[in-house]
Amino acid sequence: MMDLLPQVDRSRLPRHIAIIMDGNGRWARERGEDRVYGHYEGVVSVREIVDACGELGVEYLTLYAFSAENWNRPKAEVDALMELLVNTIRKEVDDLKKNNVKLHVIGDFASLPEVCQKEMTEAMQLTGMNTGLNLVLALSYSARQELLMAARKIAEMAVSGVLAPADIDETVFQRCLDTATFPDPELMIRTSGENRISNFLLYQLAYAELYFTPVHWPDFRKQNLYEALLDYQRRERRFGKTSEQIQKNIIPDA
Ligand code: IPE
Ligand code: IPE
Ligand code: MG
Repeated sequence: MMDLLPQVDRSRLPRHIAIIMDGNGRWARERGEDRVYGHYEGVVSVREIVDACGELGVEYLTLYAFSAENWNRPKAEVDALMELLVNTIRKEVDDLKKNNVKLHVIGDFASLPEVCQKEMTEAMQLTGMNTGLNLVLALSYSARQELLMAARKIAEMAVSGVLAPADIDETVFQRCLDTATFPDPELMIRTSGENRISNFLLYQLAYAELYFTPVHWPDFRKQNLYEALLDYQRRERRFGKTSEQIQKNIIPDA
């Protein structure tokens, strides 16, 4: 395969890429292996994509690692995933630190096993001073839950009198989400051929470019990311305007 990196326009990269890492189970089953084997191999892809984003200078990478709905999977698979998460963070935290990656978590943190919470908290502290790529892991994440929690926070502020209903605007609302300090993703990638959002960043993806690829997550590596970026860069983001309006003022990010 030809190296696609030289074709990527580094001046027009998304600031924030979000990925639904799907297809680990199918990848493993196609090889006659247990689904968990696919999750292990998926970690190799995570490392590559984190590396690639760091090298490119992407500011935020959000990875959907475990959904709130994924708790409904067989216990053995859930346990394996939690163990993999803990072991991976433990193993990778030194490299994350060295590579200037700052780790964040979104989702229902309290629902994670204690050992998992502890490992993640430590890793977030250890990487807290880093200024490079922000790596956001969505764990036990549900966008609807996140939106409900935001509604609750806002209602509480209104009831206690710190916030007047008329002052509830996009800025206020957005600050009540788990992603309060992150820009919205410009590009959302989903692997493994499923064309759905699966309760991921429903508010934040309002104007994201969606990229679906049949490639299973364990096979999704740097060149696949560059391919997605090239596809993204060929698109015209209009935000409701006409193509002519966009062409006229060729201001990047306009
Ligand atoms: C994505 O792969 C990883 C998680 C959801 C944790 P899947 O495990 O969903 O793989 P498929 O979709 O069953 O192939
Ligand atoms: C979405 O994948 C969640 C993650 C990738 C963590 P799923 O495999 O759980 O999604 P559905 O159930 O096929 O929509
Ligand atoms: Mg899946």
